[in-house]
Amino acid sequence: MNKIIERKMLVPNIHLLTVEDPFIARKIQPGHFVIVKLDEYGERIPLTVADWDREQGTVTCVFMQVGRSSRKMAELKKGDYIPTFVGPLGKMIEIKNYGTVVCVGGCYGIGSIYPVARAMKSRGNKVISVIEARSSFLLYWEDKLSEVSDDLIISTMDGSAGKKGHNSDRLKEIILQEKTIDRIISIGCTFMMYDVSEATRADQIKTIVSLNPVMVDGTGMCGACRVEVGGETKFACVDGPDFDGHQINWDLLLTRRRIYIKEETNSEEINH
Ligand SMILES: Cc1cc2nc3c(=O)[nH]c(=O)nc-3n(C[C@H](O)[C@H](O)[C@H](O)COP(=O)(O)OP(=O)(O)OC[C@H]3O[C@@H](n4cnc5c(N)ncnc54)[C@H](O)[C@@H]3O)c2cc1C
Ligand code: FES
Repeated sequence: MNKIIERKMLVPNIHLLTVEDPFIARKIQPGHFVIVKLDEYGERIPLTVADWDREQGTVTCVFMQVGRSSRKMAELKKGDYIPTFVGPLGKMIEIKNYGTVVCVGGCYGIGSIYPVARAMKSRGNKVISVIEARSSFLLYWEDKLSEVSDDLIISTMDGSAGKKGHNSDRLKEIILQEKTIDRIISIGCTFMMYDVSEATRADQIKTIVSLNPVMVDGTGMCGACRVEVGGETKFACVDGPDFDGHQINWDLLLTRRRIYIKEETNSEEINH
């Protein structure tokens, strides 16, 4: 059982969850994820880590309320217990001194990109962080990201903060401005990561994306999370979740993500 230290809404529909787990806090690295199960019959919810405190023994995730399980998670309170909180899972994102690194985040990925930007900065990279939201009231953690970035660039779809448009629009501008970009890391919804990968394809800038296909066991046993990368089948939970965005079969990924849409809709309707 893991005690909840904090659960709060950061912005509408996006929540922060901090859980006590000294073992995971000691081992966790940028790009790792955990699997949360809220009760014996609950589904497994994979969440990328957004922060941690090794001394306090806590791990923080940022999650979007999208369906039945994430709605139940949003009802949790400080002092409640989570029966299953497993991690660190997956491979960590490779952190090296590349030169100039652009960290791109959207929705929950604004949180998950933060430890990546922090680690890239501490390895001596020039870090440009790029984040997007539909509107200014859906942006969060700009202060935390500014602290670990040389530059923070914001896009909103309605133009209420930063420039109007998407992360991919900003990336195209950065590619024109910067002499070299050595690596791009992107975390967030699948369409944004696809867009980012397409924006950097022509210039062949290495673009790493953190895939979030449906997962069940998270340990390479069930095959639910299989994706095609460079023509080969990979299991996102053990081979990833981070892969080269230019090598991913995006059509297959998007089709597979929609497989359970009827069940997901039904489970919300049954509950209401
Ligand atoms: C490695 C990984 C890391 C992730 N990190 C985060 C994160 O940090 N924050 C966050 O908000 N979300 C993250 N997700 C997505 C998150 O796990 C799903 O949004 C969540 O499981 C939805 O559950 P639900 O019952 O609320 O929604 P549902 O109604 O069940 O589904 C809503 C959407 O979530 C997707 N989904 C459902 N179940 C799963 C599952 N078991 N695994 C993956 N996707 C699923 C479906 O494709 C659907 O599009 C991550 C997913 C993966 C695989
Ligand atoms: S979630 Fe089962 S193999 Fe990846």
